Amino acid sequence: LPNHYTLPSGDKIPSVALGVWQAAKGEVGAAVKTALNAGYRHIDGAWIYGNEAEVGAAIKETGISREEIFITSKLWNSFHQPDDVAPALEESLKRLGTDYLDLYLIHWPVAFKKETTSDGKPIADLDLTNDPYPTWKALEKLVDSGKVKNIGPINSMSCRLQNLTANNLKHQPAVNQVELNFWNPQQDLVSWAGKNGVLLEAYSPLGSTQQVKETLSVPEIKAVAKELGITPAQAVISWHVQRGTIVLPKSVTPSRVEENFKVVKLPQESFDAIEKAATAHPPKRVVDPSKNWGVDVFED
Ligand code: A2P
Repeated sequence: LPNHYTLPSGDKIPSVALGVWQAAKGEVGAAVKTALNAGYRHIDGAWIYGNEAEVGAAIKETGISREEIFITSKLWNSFHQPDDVAPALEESLKRLGTDYLDLYLIHWPVAFKKETTSDGKPIADLDLTNDPYPTWKALEKLVDSGKVKNIGPINSMSCRLQNLTANNLKHQPAVNQVELNFWNPQQDLVSWAGKNGVLLEAYSPLGSTQQVKETLSVPEIKAVAKELGITPAQAVISWHVQRGTIVLPKSVTPSRVEENFKVVKLPQESFDAIEKAATAHPPKRVVDPSKNWGVDVFED
């Protein structure tokens, strides 16, 4: 299986990353160190996860040189106003203790206004939500300055993406990060992306905390794992890479962090068995924090 893919910029992106969403402070640093010592060279983080300082300190403590590690962060919804983009990046860089990011993603295709409702709920800025090009132009400037090597969206359905790319973009989206797992395999998107040279990154690849147990108990996944002498998690993570996607499993358990990095090429019939089982049930999105934002993020 490929241990990396090549982005339109020519940069190489490792196919398996440690995801650090929901990795608590006090735990995430040790997970990052375990990962880097096990061979991971890709950390997928975000400003909103609230753990960038600990992630950055852990990276430094390993003594591995910065250029060897692919670091991703994400622009939160409150910072889509073009003037807010560079300061938001600076804050992430400062916390991470680095002077550039390998990848900076727009976390959700929703911009928030500065003010909130009286009970603290966000209010969508519909202009910037419907037309993210001004935000994108601010991101392009970060690429020109060298502070960010690659940029992209997350959770962007193809319609929104096409609206964005209909502009004459100076820098194209490098990847699209989306939920991909056994429950929500998005086979049409995966096959469209493969045909169109768009790299996808799979978040919540094990089904996230809510569904991981169920994922690892799926009979077809267990059968593949047993046959190949690997764990169910390794079977699932390998399936993701074999689908041509980057995969971002999260764990703060050292043995699992190590386990998740060992991907293997599945024999075609094993791959097909998981793909068939994943697409045999109606798709169900596991993660959707956007329900209270007044915008249907997943409408295409
Ligand atoms: P933990 O972090 O406590 O080890 P996803 O990557 O889809 O978001 O899933 C993350 C969830 O899956 C977390 O609850 C994580 O637990 C759990 N997890 C990660 N790797 C494994 C594994 N190899 N075996 C079992 N559970 C795992």
